[in-house]
Amino acid sequence: MDKIVVEGGVPLRGSVDVSGAKNAALPIVAAALLAEGDHVVRNVPDLADVRTLGRLLGHMGCTAERSAGDRRAVGIRVPRAVTPEAPYELVKTMRASVVVLGPLVARWGRARVSLPGGCAIGARPIDQHLKGLAALGAEIRLEHGYVEASAPRGRLRGAVFTFDGQTVTGTENVMMAAALAEGRTVLRNCAREPEVADLAKALVRMGARIEGAGTDELRIEGVQSLRPLDHTVIPDRIEAGTFLVAGALPGNDVIVRGGVAEHLEALVEKLRAVGAEVAPVPGGLRVVGDGRPRPVDVRTAPHPGFPTDMQAQLMVLLCLADGSSKITETVFENRFMHVQELQRLGADIAVDGKTAVVKGVPALSGAPVMASDLRASAALVLAGLAASGTTEVQRVYHLDRGYERIEEKLAPLGARIRRAKA
Ligand code: EPU
Repeated sequence: MDKIVVEGGVPLRGSVDVSGAKNAALPIVAAALLAEGDHVVRNVPDLADVRTLGRLLGHMGCTAERSAGDRRAVGIRVPRAVTPEAPYELVKTMRASVVVLGPLVARWGRARVSLPGGCAIGARPIDQHLKGLAALGAEIRLEHGYVEASAPRGRLRGAVFTFDGQTVTGTENVMMAAALAEGRTVLRNCAREPEVADLAKALVRMGARIEGAGTDELRIEGVQSLRPLDHTVIPDRIEAGTFLVAGALPGNDVIVRGGVAEHLEALVEKLRAVGAEVAPVPGGLRVVGDGRPRPVDVRTAPHPGFPTDMQAQLMVLLCLADGSSKITETVFENRFMHVQELQRLGADIAVDGKTAVVKGVPALSGAPVMASDLRASAALVLAGLAASGTTEVQRVYHLDRGYERIEEKLAPLGARIRRAKA
């Protein structure tokens, strides 16, 4: 098992490139299941989660491989018949596997997908995915830990459905299913995340008829069949955001190349509020961390609010602020596990339910820490960069699920960071 070793306190200077978005690539690769044939998805990050989805497609009888000519592209071959099943062994390592449910039941009229089970950051039920599919006529049973879904007479039918709460992968699942359903579907209270909009764009390129992408109401006219997909995934706003926070740490000056500024507005607003300079430059955003951050209050919310996936990273910056900040996590109920690890580096944070009160300290000091989930791991790497001395982040497999060789991206900025055997 690997660990990341960071010698902190070195100023970061230079530019860093953003990879394709994990959370767009996963549902878009899964969307290939909606059509027989040869698909290509471009700008796909090389991440553990993407490889897991490749194995899942392989289990179903498809192939998913990196193209020899373009290592950022994944070619997917979907045969005429597949085994419409997602086994527990794969779903338990990646909850997002559940996004195959909608495409499978829409295309093959049946699906057997393991329930994901527990998760470190919260309960994360999939009731809204199932309610939405049921509204489209799917018959759903829970048996032996699996969701068994089937479409009576082989095809789903359009319906009007309102999500009880906004869910990213839930919206994606039901939108994909509706694309092949008979008749018109209206989905209300949909998630508006850029990844949902990118999936809608990919589906439209496959021949789907979807209006309202990026808004909370999707109107979908079902079609009989779709054609294979050729789509380039949007840049990863959370990876970009993580590098922006790195640049906003005191003494740093970083250009983040390739992020989409409109996807990063809520974060950039907070970075400016803490006193970092953020300015557009050709091809990216430049961020300069000028002096000690000012405290700010932050509340996570679905897009376009402040993303829960950036909460842990922003907390690192606030740990060094000149005063007290309040962070309220409203999306997941248990997403403060990084707090105890940050305390090991000298941070002063008190958690009370959904709220963390972060009292800034003048400096952090390096220590061995343990990653608990993907974004928490990224936060610990950022904290290590800011801390004096050595920080060792254990359990790097969490980080590798969502960041492409983070140490190779940060080292050219001057960071003293390396991967080692734990
Ligand atoms: N929820 C329900 N019922 C459902 C679905 C969701 O109650 O049927 C609740 C969840 O428990 C949570 C809230 O709704 O409290 C929002 O969850 P959502 O369904 O939007 O999350 P997700 O689709 O499982 C995606 C990302 C997460 C990201 C969240 C929120 C992917 C593959 N994952 O998860 O990304 O945190 O949206 O933006 O798109 C990450 O990349 O580190 C990550 C965790």
